[in-house]
Amino acid sequence: MKLLVFAGSTRQQSFNRQLARATADLAHAHPGVEVTHLELGDFDIPMYNADLEAQGTPADVMRLKQIGWEHPAWIICAPEYNASYPALLKNTLDWISSPVRADPAWQDGFKSTRGKVVGMLSASPGALGGLRSQSHLAPLLMNLHFWVAPTTFALGRAGDAFDAAGQLADERARKSVQTVIDQVVWAATRFQAT
Ligand code: FNR
Repeated sequence: MKLLVFAGSTRQQSFNRQLARATADLAHAHPGVEVTHLELGDFDIPMYNADLEAQGTPADVMRLKQIGWEHPAWIICAPEYNASYPALLKNTLDWISSPVRADPAWQDGFKSTRGKVVGMLSASPGALGGLRSQSHLAPLLMNLHFWVAPTTFALGRAGDAFDAAGQLADERARKSVQTVIDQVVWAATRFQAT
């Protein structure tokens, strides 16, 4: 099972990037799982504009679409900005979901996301751990025809949550992340078989 993990932040010391890395490390230990840990900062994605798109879908958007399509299982670590998810995540998913007019293979805008299983994690310095970000992200992901895993995890007080090696210090937090990984892989495996 191919699992894609990324965070909706490019900040150097981002808690969600740390959580994505820790999640990828936990998932590596999962038998039969091949993990791709992706950094959105490695992709040059402009702010969506249909005029710009009319000149051709950016190469890095095509790269992301392809990677998304190749992964039946996704986990997104979402920061919380103003009780929702950040523009970086919305912009990335808007680009991914836009059909590529010039390419017959990419007329279906949801080709990268349709029928994939996605798990949501979040991290925030606040007590709620970015949970309100997830409540907005879930309907967006459903609109992209993802199957959204019902079990999620929000990492509160994220400034104290990681040890020196960048792993989750708290055993309960590790177990919660592991539960999301297990559920996403379980569901994606079954959807692939149908
Ligand atoms: C925030 N932050 C924040 N945190 C939270 O728990 N609830 C919120 O509503 C908000 N709102 C908010 C708005 C804006 C514009 C910013 C820039 C930040 C704090 C935010 O969770 C914190 O900066 C995290 O560290 C961002 O995630 P990364 O970059 O660490 O992954």
